[in-house]
Amino acid sequence: MRERQKVSVIGAGNVGASLAQLLAQSGLCDIMLFDIAEGMPQGKALDLAEACPLWGSSSAVKGTNGLADTKGSSVIVITAGLARKPGMSRDDLLLANARIVGGIAEKIPALSPDAVIIAVTNPMDVMAQLVREKTGFPSQRVVGMGGVLDSARLRAFIAAEAGVAPGDVQAIVMGGHGNQMVPVESLMTVKGIPARSFLGGEKIQAIIGRTRNGGAEIVSLLKTGSAYYAPAASGFEMVKAVLLDEKKVLPCAVYLEGQYGASGVYAGVPVVLGKAGVEKIIEVPLLPEEAAAFDRSVSAVRSLLSKLKNN
Ligand code: NAI
Ligand code: 2OP
Repeated sequence: MRERQKVSVIGAGNVGASLAQLLAQSGLCDIMLFDIAEGMPQGKALDLAEACPLWGSSSAVKGTNGLADTKGSSVIVITAGLARKPGMSRDDLLLANARIVGGIAEKIPALSPDAVIIAVTNPMDVMAQLVREKTGFPSQRVVGMGGVLDSARLRAFIAAEAGVAPGDVQAIVMGGHGNQMVPVESLMTVKGIPARSFLGGEKIQAIIGRTRNGGAEIVSLLKTGSAYYAPAASGFEMVKAVLLDEKKVLPCAVYLEGQYGASGVYAGVPVVLGKAGVEKIIEVPLLPEEAAAFDRSVSAVRSLLSKLKNN
């Protein structure tokens, strides 16, 4: 029988708590919810633990204000930090979140030396790179969540416009999880049939624009924070792929070493995600304009990285 694994969720806010709920419902693992807010992770964990009998789940769910309680985690998901408010971009969060994420990351190796870490906090690509630097973990075990979410948004928009089931739509968004992200038109399909068979070029361009603005669209509606249901579901998809060694093909932010012409930087590309973390980076041929858009997106991540380094 598979041994029960421990997943720690760092930051018990909207994304962290929603992810903890999905994990608890799944029964796949025990969950440690960590936050600096006193009593809050304990309260949310107790609430979730009390729901487990109703879900038929045997997950143990605990909350803590002590990072030491995350010891022995198989997977750590970092959602701690500030979220966007109306008028803010993901990039506006850079310096404050780097302090928070960097401070947590440097304590992880002593507690969970073998963990796979999933960075969620924004600006996510830069945070993933910071986590890699601060932990010294192999890049295979530090991965960022952004592409799964952006691709899910793109899939939802294609499905709604084409009048097909969302689960039948496949699509991949590459590049940084920012305004310059690259929804790859040549990879948009419905059951393997090119999206162009369902939608005209103008419609597809509008959907691409809406996807790029997907996070901001929700921020402008919520007014007090950013999206969390789809982000939590995206994080869950990635955690599950690692826990169950699913070898799922997912767009994730990974450390590139020459792939797609980029080196020494995190950006979103399709990968195989399994027990070891990023088990393979898949290089898909892109159209020239898609490759150029990817380069621009990577440049945007690099300029944020320099802003952080020069601060
Ligand atoms: P939130 O404000 O609801 O939760 C953040 C939590 O972090 C709060 O509970 C806060 O107390 C906690 N926190 C702050 N400093 C901490 C520290 N040093 N240690 C532990 N916990 C700490 O925000 P939400 O909506 O959960 O978003 C979290 C982050 O995830 C934001 O940076 C947001 O931009 C990002 N995000 C990224 C997405 C992606 O696709 N990569 C999608 C959605 C959100
Ligand atoms: C989103 O895309 C804020 O990154 C977050 O919703």
